[in-house]
Amino acid sequence: MKDVIGVVLAAGQSTRIKSNFQKIIHEVVGKPMIKYITETLGKIPLTRNLVIVSEQGKSFTKKILQGDKSVEFIVQKKRLGTGHAVLQTKSRLRSFSGTILVVCGDTPLLTPHTLRKLIQKHKSTGAAATVLTTEISNPTGYGRIILDEKERIKKITEDRDLSPKEAKIREINAGTYCFDSQLLFKSLEKVRSHNKQEEYYLTDVIEIFVSLKLPVERLAILDATEVLGVNTRKQLTQAQRILRHRILDELMQRGVTIIDPDNTFIDSGVKIGMDTTIYPFTFIRGKTSIGQGCQIGPQSHIKNAEIKNHVKVLMSIVDGAKIKDKVSIGPFSHIRGGSIIEEASVVENLAEINKSRIGQSSRICHLSYIGDCFLKKNVEVGAGTIISNLNGTRSGKTLIAENVVIGSHTNIIGPVKIKKDKYIEAGSKITKTS
Ligand code: UD1
Ligand code: MG
Repeated sequence: MKDVIGVVLAAGQSTRIKSNFQKIIHEVVGKPMIKYITETLGKIPLTRNLVIVSEQGKSFTKKILQGDKSVEFIVQKKRLGTGHAVLQTKSRLRSFSGTILVVCGDTPLLTPHTLRKLIQKHKSTGAAATVLTTEISNPTGYGRIILDEKERIKKITEDRDLSPKEAKIREINAGTYCFDSQLLFKSLEKVRSHNKQEEYYLTDVIEIFVSLKLPVERLAILDATEVLGVNTRKQLTQAQRILRHRILDELMQRGVTIIDPDNTFIDSGVKIGMDTTIYPFTFIRGKTSIGQGCQIGPQSHIKNAEIKNHVKVLMSIVDGAKIKDKVSIGPFSHIRGGSIIEEASVVENLAEINKSRIGQSSRICHLSYIGDCFLKKNVEVGAGTIISNLNGTRSGKTLIAENVVIGSHTNIIGPVKIKKDKYIEAGSKITKTS
């Protein structure tokens, strides 16, 4: 949509969230809050989005949104309110005649569908402004929609400036609006900071439009969760819960079984195949993909991992590793970064695999540590075996060829090479290649 430009307000002080970091960079199910809104704008799709950032938040926000070609940054040097924030775009948009879609950086739950509906209503009614609203049972903290006797929007009053009568109103301003660009900038010049917060409120533009007899519309949506504004830690948790369930619902629709959605934590962007079951108290984070027919959990933690089909992970951690088809891991094992577990291998109880490749159909028995090692196929590692290279002077990979059987309680200090078909007696200590 070339005739609509997005403006994202993301320069606020974030005082209510009580943090050393601006709220828009706080993560909601594995993704910074600001990214949700810019991705949503991209899906409408809008090709030009101006993000208003503070001096302090600029570098963080740029880093988070790098690669998004639709985004331009504008710094709001003094944070004097939402009206002042939008005014910062005036010099960039002076020659633009069309619709400005304003959204807040702290509303990560908005959907492209709703924003498209808002734009449609704005255009089809020819309004000067269209406000997104909803009714909520506890509207504390939000600006309220004040109507005239004909039920048309008259103004928006901020929570702190409400009269006792207005405080009873449950229709709230979502902080999302369409404006005619030229009329918006003219009216913003007239906004004053005569309110409890002494800020220049964007919401005052509505009353100015009404006084100029310019048409103002509103789009009221039923799903109040979509417009949740995240100002406090409690609202951050509420947003997490809603988004988490959205992710889980989508996975279930795609054929994934989630045994207990209230106790399953999956980041946005994680891919899971059909007929995979996720058991409770499992966290699946970052850039992770899981294939079909797997059983993951209970109590497992998977991060930045590539897991293929028919894999079992029970009460274990897989972090930055690749797991091939039909592998079984756990309980209580830890597969660490850079490791690859090849097809049909088994890593049993309480084992740790670090920067190692475990060949096809191999078995790592309980209480083992395998570090910096390349095991070929059909290798059996007995319980309590340690393969490491950390003796202060050595480095490099230990190579263990096909069909080797390592008896339990063996200590291998690498790097060493063990030829194929060898049997190493239980309790051996190996420090060099023979
Ligand atoms: C705002 C609305 C309120 C609405 C609510 C919806 C105003 C005056 N109030 O209130 O009517 O119900 O959102 O969630 O607009 N920001 C800047 N620069 C500033 C101040 C704020 O960029 O100088 C940004 C913030 O980073 C935030 C957004 O604007 O993303 C909204 O600011 P916030 O302080 O959260 O306003 P609310 O009190 O939530
Ligand atoms: Mg807010």
